[in-house]
Amino acid sequence: MTKFVHLQSKNHSLIIKTDRVPEILHWGAKIAQIDEDLILSTERPISQARLDVDVPLSLCPELGSGHFNAPGIEGHRQGYDWAPVFTCTSIDEQTNSVLFTLVDEVAKLELKIEVMLNPDTDVLQKRTSVTNIGEGQYTLGKLSSTLPLPNHANELMTFHGRWCHEFQTQRQRFEHGGFMQENRRGRTSHENFPGLFVGTNGFSEQLGQVWGFHLGWSGNHQMRADVRSDGRRFVQAGELLLSGEMILEEGETYHSPWLYGCYSNTGLNGISQRFQQFVRDNIVKFPVEKPRPVHLNTWEGIYFDHNPEYIMQMATEAAEMGVERFIIDDGWFIGRDGERAALGDWYLDMKKYPNGLEPVIEHVNQKGMEFGLWIEPEMVSQDSNLWRTHPEWVLGLQGYHQPSGRWQYVLDLQNQDCFNYLFGRLNDLLSLYNITYLKWDMNRELVQPGHQGRPAVHGQTEALYRLVDELNRAHPEVEIESCSSGGGRIDFEILKRTQRFWASDCNDALERQAIQKGMSYFFPPEVMGAHIGPYECHSTNRRHNINMRGVTALSGHMGVELDPVKESQQEKQAFSRYIALHKQYRHLLHSGRCFRIDPVDKNQNIYGVESDDEMLITVCQLAMPDHALPSPLRISCVDVSAKYQVKLVEMPQTSFQLMKQRPQWLDKTLTLSGDNLKEIGLTLPILDPESALIVHLQKI
Ligand code: DGJ
Repeated sequence: MTKFVHLQSKNHSLIIKTDRVPEILHWGAKIAQIDEDLILSTERPISQARLDVDVPLSLCPELGSGHFNAPGIEGHRQGYDWAPVFTCTSIDEQTNSVLFTLVDEVAKLELKIEVMLNPDTDVLQKRTSVTNIGEGQYTLGKLSSTLPLPNHANELMTFHGRWCHEFQTQRQRFEHGGFMQENRRGRTSHENFPGLFVGTNGFSEQLGQVWGFHLGWSGNHQMRADVRSDGRRFVQAGELLLSGEMILEEGETYHSPWLYGCYSNTGLNGISQRFQQFVRDNIVKFPVEKPRPVHLNTWEGIYFDHNPEYIMQMATEAAEMGVERFIIDDGWFIGRDGERAALGDWYLDMKKYPNGLEPVIEHVNQKGMEFGLWIEPEMVSQDSNLWRTHPEWVLGLQGYHQPSGRWQYVLDLQNQDCFNYLFGRLNDLLSLYNITYLKWDMNRELVQPGHQGRPAVHGQTEALYRLVDELNRAHPEVEIESCSSGGGRIDFEILKRTQRFWASDCNDALERQAIQKGMSYFFPPEVMGAHIGPYECHSTNRRHNINMRGVTALSGHMGVELDPVKESQQEKQAFSRYIALHKQYRHLLHSGRCFRIDPVDKNQNIYGVESDDEMLITVCQLAMPDHALPSPLRISCVDVSAKYQVKLVEMPQTSFQLMKQRPQWLDKTLTLSGDNLKEIGLTLPILDPESALIVHLQKI
């Protein structure tokens, strides 16, 4: 008998129809009630020259029942039981979640499909588990989560990238065929961020229906979006399992990673606001609720050249600029004079720090700052004591040579002795020193991820989570930053146990505008590490004045990444100014609703953040303005019945090359009503390329 499940959240409905298997009928705008005639009104015709029965696009599509696209499950039992067909045996419906149990009595497999619709944020969560209920082993090739899309979702936005170039986006038609992404790098990766959007034709930041997806997993994954020849379409995502990687013994269960989904009828803004709030409420946990401290990270300032006296001088200068957390990056441990040696030897280099680390930490603390330290626990250099003592701890395959990456190799975290050593070293460091922050780095891919000869990306990823979890339990006051050559490990699952991402090794403000925009579709600004780098960027050699650098770093979790001792007085004063501006608006930036405005000038990036009574909007001119005069800034999210005080809070201080006369309001505080701001807009000054301004709106 047909059964309907109707999950409802604040704004949305999810209706699942179950006959033999569950199938989503609707995921989107709220539906008040399910009509009895829905069974008839949704019955599909059967086309000529095809199967004689209707094939549902179920929550786990099956090859064995005639789904000719990617099935939700693949596997076999010694070559048998490779096309399972399930029957739903129970439906456990709760207020905001449902658990379907399905069984294949022939293949002896049991599936559990969990679906939740978050009542406040409307974010949908889905995961699938399979248990081997038969005799002997079952080799699982794949277990993905599938979510259908309506046929009018016909445009796709996906992500690509590389080191220093994360979160780049690409659009394509989504009418026939599809898109497929396979990540085999063993970490979330710069290249294949596990997220995508599908929407109605031409969906934009502010307009259109959009469905957004993110797979919370830090290992290999497969993510695809397919249009079937019958026009039905779906997104599917799950862990990419290597051959023979997942063998289930009798009674054993495999859980897929969580797939997160979100619907919006207000373009990408509706998606990112929901994902961001979901992350705030359900994913990230801060040990103590406090303003996100402004960082100074030593990497680009001194690299491997560590001298405690000098570092203390840097700390003094940092504190004067308003920095609140001082982090010593790579180079502090024994033998680490460059990138070719010492990873794994997590002991202080007494040659560099003859008096220990304590005097530096005490100095940092005396200056009113917290102290943080860089580590890269999963790695080992060939030139290290750890390698010399335990070459067998390397993750690899016996009998083969594997290439190094940044001259280093990965440790096998499933080796319990290795795991214990790493936990011991980290635990000792955190117990010995007053460290309240770890920058946890991970700088290479997994090439031969073998544990005892078997493929082990899954096990390695789970073991990493275990290591971080155990450390969190032992030192609950310590915050952790997830860094992986910049943004190589950014996802919801690692964020459940960390508090910040290093978004990119690229501190070039122009590049950062794109990287941070891409990241903001999923993550709130308070977890997005954004630093002011030096005038000449170390990764691109591009030069930016302080306005562009300051404004770009200001809207994330702000920091500075340079050597303040070597900077001019003028630059340092400017750093202080932007840090002060960030602190002034941090309450709003790190708790408000973020939005982006579709620019008329495609060379502008316009983004903002609002609470119920104030708003901060940044207009960044990325390249030469498209027209001689800028288009008015029309702010659609204002309260049309309210009045606002409108004030410019930041603008380039250098002379304007493209503008002879400034609009007078730049030097005044305006009072404007919401409908004026929404319909007529605010006239902007002409901005030179690679410069930005910030406007503040206060509701009266
Ligand atoms: C890569 C990181 O992304 C950088 O920020 C820095 O920590 C270096 N590693 C240090 O080796």
